[in-house]
Amino acid sequence: MDKTINGIYVKTLGKDTNQAIVFIHGFPYDHTLWDDVIDEFKDDYYCISYDIRGFGKSEINTAQFTMQSYVQDLENIILGLKLSKPILCGFSMGGYITLRANEREKYKALILANTATNSDDDKAKLKRSTGISDIDTKGLEPFVNGFLSAAFSEDFIKKEPLKIKSIKENIMSFNPIGIKAALLAMISRTDTAKGLEETDIPVLLITGEDDKIIPKETMELMASKIKNSTFVSLSECGHMSMLENPNGFKSAMRSFLVGL
Ligand code: MLT
Repeated sequence: MDKTINGIYVKTLGKDTNQAIVFIHGFPYDHTLWDDVIDEFKDDYYCISYDIRGFGKSEINTAQFTMQSYVQDLENIILGLKLSKPILCGFSMGGYITLRANEREKYKALILANTATNSDDDKAKLKRSTGISDIDTKGLEPFVNGFLSAAFSEDFIKKEPLKIKSIKENIMSFNPIGIKAALLAMISRTDTAKGLEETDIPVLLITGEDDKIIPKETMELMASKIKNSTFVSLSECGHMSMLENPNGFKSAMRSFLVGL
């Protein structure tokens, strides 16, 4: 079912009496990133995906966002759908949102894909700042091309040109203001390591062996500091784990979920 909650486009699939999983996409995508994963889990779980503010079909409002304002949108969805103790599944920037949400509320479990607890160092901040000015001066397309070539492994880019083309076309339909606002929100995010290290809820961490954006070692270290963690590194996989190794991603999720 499609809904709008406080200007946020939300899609729900499955029975609302089942355990809820809220899926949070990364930058600069939308809820469709999760379509295949949700197809796998919709019969057993109540699956909720949404477009982060400024992306896809969600409103943009003031276009001044922080991880905290993104979390407030997430909390409004949870409240609006009357979900009790959902599982949060966040990918990359969606993981940054999940990690900030984890500092404010105790969830049933977390699934963190290709994400990290650290805030940006100066080099990363300057790279994102250059991205913002490049979008202004050169348009969105060169930025998106550069971003996607870092996100996917070289093998996947060679093997699946049509998938990359369709993802790119989708991103090109978004408002560049929402994309620039998300870059600023990532620049301003805080470090969330302490909250994660203090949590005792089950946490699944999924990474890709060839992730060039957030190296697998970063997630391995995160996992080693969590009381109740499961770490899975997928082979033949870059940053976009649910698309590059969908079977590995879904099977890691399935084993984790049945063990809860
Ligand atoms: C994402 O996939 O959400 C981004 O790569 C996150 C980032 O740029 O830090």
